[in-house]
Amino acid sequence: MRLLLLGPPGAGKGTQAKRMSRRYGLTALSSGDILRGQIQIGSAVGKRAAPFVSSGALVPDDVITDVMLAGIAGTPYRTGFILDGFPRTLPQAQALDEGIEDLGVDITAVLNFDMDDRDIVSRIVGRRSCGKCGAVYNVDFLPPKTADVCDVCGSPLVQRVDDREDVVVNRLKTYRAQTAPLVKYYSDKGLLHTIDASAAADAVEAQVGLMIDSLSAGK
Ligand code: AP5
Repeated sequence: MRLLLLGPPGAGKGTQAKRMSRRYGLTALSSGDILRGQIQIGSAVGKRAAPFVSSGALVPDDVITDVMLAGIAGTPYRTGFILDGFPRTLPQAQALDEGIEDLGVDITAVLNFDMDDRDIVSRIVGRRSCGKCGAVYNVDFLPPKTADVCDVCGSPLVQRVDDREDVVVNRLKTYRAQTAPLVKYYSDKGLLHTIDASAAADAVEAQVGLMIDSLSAGK
C-alpha cells in the first residue's frame, strides 16, 4: 500500500498519516516534518529551505525532490509507505513517478483531503505540536489532556512559525496555485480518492479506513 496524501494546509493530512501509520504499520514520510528537522539542525538543506517555509512559499523542487526520493529509498518501500506533503507541484509528481519506477514500485492510491479554505485558518492557528515527539494537537478540536503539555511524552507544546494567520493565507494561495493541479493529474491516472476532511478526526479516520479496506480487498 503506497499512498499519497494531497490537500490544503490544515486539512488533517499529518494527523491522519500518523493514525494510518500506527494502524497499518506503514512508514509515513512528511515533507514538512523533514524540512523542519533539517532547519532545526542547520543543515545545508535546512538553510536553503528556511526562508521559503517561514513565508509560506514552496521550497524549490530540486531540494525537496532529492530529500524525499532518498527518504523513500530508505523505507521498506515494497511493503508500503505514506507520503504526506509530497509531491506538491507537477515537476515533483513527475520526478516521483520516475524515482519510484526506478525502484520497481508504483503508487497504489492518492487520498485527496478536501476542505473549504474558510475552515482551515481556525484549525491551523489552534495547532500545537510537540517539539520532541511531533504529536499534533489543536487547542479547540483535539486538545491535550493538560494544556500545552504533550500527552505522549510530557514535553512542552509549541506553535509552528508558519502558523501565523498572514502566513497561512499565503500557504493557501500557494496550495491553490501550485498544488491543486495535482488533483487532475492523479484523477487522470485513476488514482484519486476524495476524503471529506471537514469532518471530525475520528470520522475522517473511519473514511480513510473504509477506503484502504476496499483497496486491500481489490475492489
Ligand atoms: P507541511 O508541514 O507539509 O504543511 P501543510 O501541507 O501546509 O500541512 P499542515 O502540516 O499545515 O497541515 P496538515 O494537513 O498536516 O494538518 P494537521 O494534521 O497538522 O509544509 C510546511 C512547509 O514546508 C510548506 O509551506 C513549504 O514551505 C514546505 N514544503 C513541504 N513540502 C513541500 C514540498 N513538497 N514542496 C515544496 N515545499 C514543501 O491538522 C491541522 C490542525 O487541525 C491540527 O491542530 C490538528 O490537531 C487539527 N485537526 C486535524 N484533523 C482535524 C479534524 N478532522 N477536525 C478538527 N481538527 C483537526
